[in-house]
Amino acid sequence: MQLSTTTLKAVPSQAMADTHVSDGETWPFAVRRCTPVIGAEISGVDLKDDLSDETYSALRRALLKFKVLFFRRQDITPAQHVAVARRFGELEVHPVFPHHPDHPELVVFGRDGGRRGTENIYHSDVSWRAVPSMGSMLRCVSCPEVGGDTIWVNMAAAYANLPEEVKARIANLKAVHDALPLFSAELTEESCDRMREQFPPVVHPVVRVHPETGEKILFVNEAFTTHLANYAREQPYRIGSDFRLAEMDLLQYLYRQAAAPEYQVRLRWEPNTIALWDNRATHHYAVQDYFPAPRHMNRATIIGDRPA
Ligand code: SIN
Repeated sequence: MQLSTTTLKAVPSQAMADTHVSDGETWPFAVRRCTPVIGAEISGVDLKDDLSDETYSALRRALLKFKVLFFRRQDITPAQHVAVARRFGELEVHPVFPHHPDHPELVVFGRDGGRRGTENIYHSDVSWRAVPSMGSMLRCVSCPEVGGDTIWVNMAAAYANLPEEVKARIANLKAVHDALPLFSAELTEESCDRMREQFPPVVHPVVRVHPETGEKILFVNEAFTTHLANYAREQPYRIGSDFRLAEMDLLQYLYRQAAAPEYQVRLRWEPNTIALWDNRATHHYAVQDYFPAPRHMNRATIIGDRPA
């Protein structure tokens, strides 16, 4: 079941007072699940406050369990945004996207009618890095009254629900991830050359194991995964088309899993809404249905680990 955007926007106060989730875990804040599969809205936490280590460790536990957490009415400054994200790990500086003038760790997605957003493709942030991010914290500065929602997908659920024969076929496969096919549109030829040197294509397992939960995760995405690195070795072929077409079919099939609503939650933004997601276990998609209305978002991205 996918949560309707209306339900996410107008949360009844009684539901927010519930400090226990249905399976009986206790939290030091109110937790309201968004769907059975992914997402929870957290309330009773003001991220401006100097929250205790216990609260942050409960937030991390909630993040691992629900994979994306939503916080409403968080009127925090960019400096506070950076400080809160740092409680989850060191932050990276994105080599392509514009940054906040005082905080290079904050990517600024500022759409003002001049250009459409291009994050409307299922992806895991910076999967083209040798060490992709652990998570991201995205805050809405301003957004249209309607439109510009973001969708997150539970890629552990997507993996778990694959047919057993597909799981067997992809068990030892590796995939190549590359930033440039997508980002070359934003860069000059010289910057592309510099990016190619600094961030050459990387190889990650098609199925990664989450370093904290041990879950298996389908880790290919249509934004950055270009091809399978060892398909021919794993699937011997008779003629070329057996190889290339079958490889592309398999990859397309795997990409498509992210689009199943059964694995998704969709957030309707308001100014000062924050989403914090586990980038290792999810994909996301920024719906581009609002152009030319303005939409401004700031994102802090937490450094992760090498997929294994
Ligand atoms: C992103 O891809 O991190 C941006 C998502 C959004 O703007 O909703």
